[in-house]
Amino acid sequence: MPHNQFDKKSQAWSALFSEPMSDLVKRYTSSVDFDKRLWQADIAGSLAHAEMLAAQGILSDSDHAAIQDGMRAIRSEIEAGAFQWKLDLEDVHLNIEARLTQLVGDAGKRLHTGRSRNDQVATDVRLWLRDEIDLIVALLGDLQKALLDVAEKNVEVILPGFTHLQVAQPISFGHHMLAYVEMFSRDAERMLEVRRRTNRLPLGAAALAGTGYPLDRERVAKTLGMIDEQGRPQVCQNSLDAVSDRDFAIEFSAAAALCMVHVSRLSEELVLWMSQNFGFIRISDRFTTGSSIMPQKKNPDVPELARGKTGRVVGHLMGLLTLMKGQPLAYNKDNQEDKEPLFDTVDTLKDTLRIFSEMVGGQLNATTGEKEGGISVNAQAMEQAAARGYATATDLADYLVKKGLPFRDAHETVAHAVKAAISHQVDLSELPLAVLQQFNASIGKDVYDVLSLRGSLNARDILGGTAPNQVRTQIARQRARLA
Ligand code: ARG
Repeated sequence: MPHNQFDKKSQAWSALFSEPMSDLVKRYTSSVDFDKRLWQADIAGSLAHAEMLAAQGILSDSDHAAIQDGMRAIRSEIEAGAFQWKLDLEDVHLNIEARLTQLVGDAGKRLHTGRSRNDQVATDVRLWLRDEIDLIVALLGDLQKALLDVAEKNVEVILPGFTHLQVAQPISFGHHMLAYVEMFSRDAERMLEVRRRTNRLPLGAAALAGTGYPLDRERVAKTLGMIDEQGRPQVCQNSLDAVSDRDFAIEFSAAAALCMVHVSRLSEELVLWMSQNFGFIRISDRFTTGSSIMPQKKNPDVPELARGKTGRVVGHLMGLLTLMKGQPLAYNKDNQEDKEPLFDTVDTLKDTLRIFSEMVGGQLNATTGEKEGGISVNAQAMEQAAARGYATATDLADYLVKKGLPFRDAHETVAHAVKAAISHQVDLSELPLAVLQQFNASIGKDVYDVLSLRGSLNARDILGGTAPNQVRTQIARQRARLA
């Protein structure tokens, strides 16, 4: 039988197989349609492996040079869209290796010395994900900056803060935006943690047990930038674990799901704030759509979709956890199923973060150098809503505490005052002094200072509180951190 081992799938492994695969099984087992996007990592991993094989004297310099040339050609072919991906060759690894062998002959066949697709694919996914994490961290930085821009413009804008979606206390809109900056900064921290554990080298584990060739794994790790902060090479220390676990992908998905959960909370608020019943904000028309039947409508499609896409990212996390559950050591083909959920998680998260940066902060107008089209705020509507909900009731209680009342009694007293205000359909600050004094004789004229929204805001001048003073300090701290 003629033998280019890659010509027919039925002969790709050995002469052991007497039957060709059916087309259905080929389609079922092949992953090239989706894993071809790992091609850059696959080539980088192969070049690092070949360089080390040559340095160790396992591969001749001329074979090494041929492999380098071949990979250069393959890279150009893929970039030009001229590379022929073949389903018959199952996955990205076999496709590239087969083409290499076609281009450079025996040198191509020597590349796989001391290596298995099991440690190869684990390496590729880690390399790919590491670089995606770097992009995601940068996108998280952009979104935080966009939120900071909105915060800075709206430090003095007052809206009702809610608990149970009931008006609770007045807060600064800047403060509200900063809450999301905190969430996304923790998301970025989590991503960087995951990056540390992702950036470790499986190559050298071979199929599962390690290899008899004298490979220099640390050299390969260094070549691939799999190093820690001190520049020390990071190498998976157990061959069985190296080829089989996908915990790095799972914890990345967990971090991504959490980030999307934060996005979905922001989305929900944008949707609420945009509704006529709130009327707090507007977002640019390009993030909304109209209705085909109701001409007055502008629907917040982008925040709604982001809220919806959170479901699919959370679903991918569940998928990956379930994929890993109960797999015996070491590599199992199950793991080929890690890619689509992982890829979709990365794509969804990146697109969402990009679109949110623009929707929140606007986009740069090249001519004016100004950002345009971000969230615009209706300060009056926010303030009116805060004034409607007895948001300064706590301030009145605190005022009475200062006059010597125990807090629980002050709380009860204010409840009576609020009841009276509700029955007269006025705000607490609109009750005449004589009426307020009926609830407690120690109330003086100065009570109106604390009953104002601004007075309430300024009073919360504590680390992490909503006083404009504190909000400005936090904006400066976050800006310095992101600089
Ligand atoms: N396409 C496979 C995957 O994604 C590569 C590893 C296959 N290894 C094997 N022994 N069949 O996991």
